Amino acid sequence: MSELSSLDNDQPLLVAEGLAKNYGRLAACRDVSFALYPGEVLAIVGESGSGKSTLLQLLSAQLAPSAGHVAYRMRDGVLRDLAELGEAERRFLFRTDWGFVHQDPAQGLRMGVSAGANVGERLMAVGWNHYGRIRDTASTWLERVEIDVGRIDDAPKTYSGGMRQRLQIARNLVTEPRLVFMDEPTGGLDVSVQARLLDLMRNLVSELGLAAIVVTHDLAVARLLSHRVMVMKGGRVIETGLTDQVLDDPREPYTQLLVSSILPP
Ligand SMILES: Nc1ncnc2c1ncn2[C@@H]1O[C@H](COP(=O)(O)OP(=O)(O)O)[C@@H](O)[C@H]1O
Ligand SMILES: [Mg+2]
Repeated sequence: MSELSSLDNDQPLLVAEGLAKNYGRLAACRDVSFALYPGEVLAIVGESGSGKSTLLQLLSAQLAPSAGHVAYRMRDGVLRDLAELGEAERRFLFRTDWGFVHQDPAQGLRMGVSAGANVGERLMAVGWNHYGRIRDTASTWLERVEIDVGRIDDAPKTYSGGMRQRLQIARNLVTEPRLVFMDEPTGGLDVSVQARLLDLMRNLVSELGLAAIVVTHDLAVARLLSHRVMVMKGGRVIETGLTDQVLDDPREPYTQLLVSSILPP
């Protein structure tokens, strides 16, 4: 690693300050502040309705905050307020520097076009135009996510749930994003399929040095993927710390309940 990039890693990639979102009188998210560093995986956990998805949408500029700010370090090293980005910069983040893995693959894939096109499309959006190179890169990525390259011309609507989710990951990672947002990435899958997907995600995230923010109500997902955990309740972050510390020795009574699985998902 060059001196410059190791220096860069001392600087936060994303900073949230006093983030809040109200829906009428409901505070879906209140006063959230933290910094995420390059290569760091943060899990946002909490029961259903605690504000996890709202926070993820605020952090990824899909929702405008009622109060507070999110700043992101662009590739030129400058930390920029997401609310002040121009359209071209926003597009760059959504198409290239960020990835989004949705719980429902139909939200992140085009179900009717081929797997190869699903991956190739992201490359074309960043200016690739050589058909052979696009197809080769798409094939390489299908292999990386353990999809038989013989299925490259099939549409994801013919794929199983686990394959769809792996294809969604390939489509996102092909542009070498620096940050990936995931909302319940294993939520809709059978337990055995979940384990394989988690293992794959864990390896890719570490090989690529990706930063990720993963929303999950499943503490096993947080345990396997994340370095750090934020526990949400009623729109607030009530506990945060290193994953093993928070899950093995939770301070807050609510987190203790969550860890002992007394609370419903
Ligand atoms: N678009 C919306 N309009 C009104 N209320 C919403 C909207 N989105 C979420 N909420 C409410 O905000 C709270 C937090 O929701 P959400 O962020 O989806 O929680 P989680 O992802 O933890 O299940 C819930 O009470 C939910 O009903
Ligand atoms: Mg949610």
